[in-house]
Amino acid sequence: MQLSNTKILLSEQQIEKRVQELASEISRDFIGEELLVVGILKGAFIFLADLIRNMDVPVQVDFMDVSSYGLSTKSSGEVRIMKDLEQPIEGKNVLIVEDIIDSGTTLKFILEILQRRKPRTLKVCSFLDKPSRRRVPVAPDYNGFTIEDHFIVGYGLDYAEQYRNLPMVRILLNQELMK
Ligand code: IMP
Ligand code: MG
Repeated sequence: MQLSNTKILLSEQQIEKRVQELASEISRDFIGEELLVVGILKGAFIFLADLIRNMDVPVQVDFMDVSSYGLSTKSSGEVRIMKDLEQPIEGKNVLIVEDIIDSGTTLKFILEILQRRKPRTLKVCSFLDKPSRRRVPVAPDYNGFTIEDHFIVGYGLDYAEQYRNLPMVRILLNQELMK
């Protein structure tokens, strides 16, 4: 894992503070209720783990895996379910936790599928949002950081399955050279 072609964007401290703020906001909105937190694999696993440990409402956790980017940094525009939820969500408060919203294709697909299962509420919490890249109109209800059009690694996000374990967020420079 080379770091020489990366540049830091968000420090561990910045992330920790923002995740605590998001968790407080969500806890306030769902006071007295239960929440099913749905992590989108794999990118959201670290964000989800930190987020729920800062929340003070009862939570259940489930995961979905959908294919989007494969090993490239370009979105194919195709989405498929690779792993579905283990439980029905009808009548439940569902919070989708995503690592990053880019074109919006993945999120729109997940929202359509889950909405058909008649949850009581369906909200989205993304760690990062790149609105300048949007091709379909979706927006998160909660968002950690809005960023420019960079390719990001760390804190769960990968490039070709590398860098997920970095505790901070870094910009990957010179992606073309790495292909
Ligand atoms: P979308 O369908 O184009 O919105 O892409 C969403 C998915 O693409 C995210 O859940 C990520 O897995 C991946 N992705 C998009 N941008 C980045 C990035 O900058 N770094 C790493 N993964 C990304
Ligand atoms: Mg993802």
